[in-house]
Amino acid sequence: MDAPVRSSTDNAAEFAAQHDDVFGRIASRYDMLCDLFSLGIHRLWKRRVARRIADEPWTTLLDGATGTGHIVERILAHASTQGRRIVASDISPKMLAIAERRLAGQRERVELRLLDAENMPTIADASVDAYSISLGLKICDRHRALNEAFRVLRPGGRLIALEASTIAWAPLHRAYLAYMSLCMPMLGWLATGGDASAYRYLLQGVREFPSAEALAREIAGHGFTDVRFERLSLGIVAIHVGRKPPATQ
Ligand SMILES: C[S@@+](CC[C@H](N)C(=O)[O-])C[C@H]1O[C@@H](n2cnc3c(N)ncnc32)[C@H](O)[C@@H]1O
Repeated sequence: MDAPVRSSTDNAAEFAAQHDDVFGRIASRYDMLCDLFSLGIHRLWKRRVARRIADEPWTTLLDGATGTGHIVERILAHASTQGRRIVASDISPKMLAIAERRLAGQRERVELRLLDAENMPTIADASVDAYSISLGLKICDRHRALNEAFRVLRPGGRLIALEASTIAWAPLHRAYLAYMSLCMPMLGWLATGGDASAYRYLLQGVREFPSAEALAREIAGHGFTDVRFERLSLGIVAIHVGRKPPATQ
């Protein structure tokens, strides 16, 4: 049966893990590919988002699309997260297996769960204090993922999302997209031994993902308040933060 047609307005990369196990195939090379595609800059973004997450008030954090656990590892390195608990989740068992090895020394503080960020029936309503997702919103149906984030957060809980964005100066953004379109297929092809999926989804997701302002409006449209964003690297990515309204509102 053909894969269901999905709207690119909801799923920027038009990616569905159920139909292409690309993250399973590239799991062992994922961290190296991040270094290659971003020229190492993803490390700065991950350090920054980990700090933003650690600085928010929470006891239980759910990290969606956690990948190889790089960001969770960085969150746990902040002294302020001592005594706090993280549920690190992903749809790919192979990505989670790498996260498990990376976080092996922190097992009492981290629980690893196989979860689809678009539909998390095993996570109860209003059961987590904070929900984070990094570089995951562009490769899933972000409206469904944001609905789920809102549902599982307790009133007053925080959403933190790191994602591709738009450089505010349009000519520079066009130059960035041109660089990505030219260099990524070449680098990606070499690094993955010809597995085009790895960079095709990424390119499509980066091209189609909304601007920081538009994403902030979408997040607010899902019921979050106090939505703010911070651009990193001129706007190549942005960190959005929002709050589920307190129960009294
Ligand atoms: C680009 S990686 C980001 C990983 C990690 N957050 C990081 O910043 O390095 C995207 C991750 O999202 C996962 N993923 C894709 N679709 C998903 C879904 N519907 N639910 C949960 N995880 C998903 C993939 O398996 C992959 O590990």
